Amino acid sequence: RKAVTLPALLKMCAEGRKIAVLTAYDASFASLMDSCGVDVLLVGDSLGNVAQGRSTTLPVTLDDIAYHTTCVARGNKTAFLVADMPFGTYGTPEVAFDNAVRLMRAGAQMVKLEGGAWLTETVRFLTERAVPVFAHLGLTPQYVHQLGGFRVQGRSTEDAERLKADALALQAAGASLLLLEAIPAALGKEVTGLMSIPTIGIGAGPDCSGQVLVMHDMLGVFPGRKARFVRDFMPGQTSIEGAIRAYVQAVQDSSFPASEHCF
Ligand code: KIV
Ligand code: NA
Repeated sequence: RKAVTLPALLKMCAEGRKIAVLTAYDASFASLMDSCGVDVLLVGDSLGNVAQGRSTTLPVTLDDIAYHTTCVARGNKTAFLVADMPFGTYGTPEVAFDNAVRLMRAGAQMVKLEGGAWLTETVRFLTERAVPVFAHLGLTPQYVHQLGGFRVQGRSTEDAERLKADALALQAAGASLLLLEAIPAALGKEVTGLMSIPTIGIGAGPDCSGQVLVMHDMLGVFPGRKARFVRDFMPGQTSIEGAIRAYVQAVQDSSFPASEHCF
């Protein structure tokens, strides 16, 4: 296939074709996911959980993400490659830009940042300087100690209104994609309807423009607690390739997420 670009993702969204996203941390899995038609590979700071065995993403460093981004970039040929900016690496626009440049030099084509309206200045600063931005709202795991755990967000009217205002502010500041994590499916649908940029959901219902899962979760190899929004795609398959293809198919035909994966 041709290389997946940001305009191609926007076109998919406009045409109602769902975007399939998976996390990747190394060259071999990146190569396999790319050849299975995964549209976007995310070098997530979830590597702190799944690769480093930590209980939060907070200790993950810029060096960690840069290293894994170089590995994924070597294995990937056509998928769009996004890298997470770790906790503490985007506190000001200038710091965010310098750190984003490192990840872009490592092979990222976009960076993802957790947070709401306070980030608009940073999003504008980055996008003006040629760094595309993927905003992340809802359950933002870097905020775990402020949120008091990994719990569903946007349940109250007040929280839902704030999330919608944040989403619109981030879009207006230049964000090109919006990740929605662990929010009620009805809110995922509402936000997606409000936005002109694609929304990628994880526990945000079936109406987002696309879906993402952590690869260890969708292959059933993560030993920790399994979130409600996770589906293990290995059962019924005879290979990892089969499971990844089944995931892409299920996102494309909207059979994933089913109601049992939603809030
Ligand atoms: O780090 C990560 O894996 C993420 C996800 C939302 C999948 O940010
Ligand atoms: Na992340």
